[in-house]
Amino acid sequence: MQKARREVAEKIKQVDIVFEVVDARSPESSRNPMLLEMLQQKPIISILNKADLADSARTKAWVAAYQAEGREAIAIDAQHAKRLQQLPQMAEKVLAEKLARKRARGIRNPHVRAMCIGIPNVGKSTILNRLVQKNIAITGNRPGVTKNQQWLKASGNLELLDTPGILWPKFDDQEIGMKLALTGAIADKVFTADEVALWGVGYFQKNYAEVLRKHYGLTDEQMQSRPADIVQLLTKKFAYGEEFDRTAVRFINDVRKGELGRYTLEVPEDRA
Ligand code: G4P
Repeated sequence: MQKARREVAEKIKQVDIVFEVVDARSPESSRNPMLLEMLQQKPIISILNKADLADSARTKAWVAAYQAEGREAIAIDAQHAKRLQQLPQMAEKVLAEKLARKRARGIRNPHVRAMCIGIPNVGKSTILNRLVQKNIAITGNRPGVTKNQQWLKASGNLELLDTPGILWPKFDDQEIGMKLALTGAIADKVFTADEVALWGVGYFQKNYAEVLRKHYGLTDEQMQSRPADIVQLLTKKFAYGEEFDRTAVRFINDVRKGELGRYTLEVPEDRA
């Protein structure tokens, strides 16, 4: 952790702006709050990636909440990344004063140097590849692997560091861990499928009841049951005998594949 932290801090020194990549399905839980301490006053744009899988109303609410706090934010789907092309302009806008000073000193087309930073699996490499419109083999995409760094040209005057900065997922809080596990942001061995599925069923019961009911053909009465009872009911429905674990894994996979529709596991108000 210390080494990863030092590496990221070292890279941040070299850039004008940081692109923080988070998962739109859990924008707060998929960020490492230590990044803010490591910024050395560099500005940041938060990229809420995988917006194609997230609840669009909640994504809008998150972007608005971040912007209201004075932080630039954009929601994208890196796999079909039209909106990503707004990033160079956004970065220039955030850095307007600094760039104006450079132009006043006679630098005609000052470049903007940026890097993507985030926890594993949020889409940093995909975004980087899209921005530079290449399919570079991102080597050294692990903390602790050093190599000669290169700057890759994106559109406009934007240049990106060829390796993303990797932070570790932070889940001191059990609920954050559950969100990261349900979206697949952390390895399946960290929590049991059972506990993740129970948490997930509970969350969907409260927040996305209709899709849960419809997808698994549950009655209104069954929907009022405790999450553990719902898992039991489903196990029976799937004819899995006593294999509750199998049901848990199936539920988690259904959620991750988007079979239960688009979802977001937190709202800005949760932070209060
Ligand atoms: P990382 O560098 O932050 O570790 O993440 P990476 O780009 O490797 O992306 C992790 C996984 O997330 C990849 O899937 C990638 O295709 C997927 N992904 C990235 N951006 C988006 C997005 O906006 N929407 C969706 N739905 N998926 C996204 P994978 O299954 O691990 O690999 P692959 O099957 O794409 O090769």
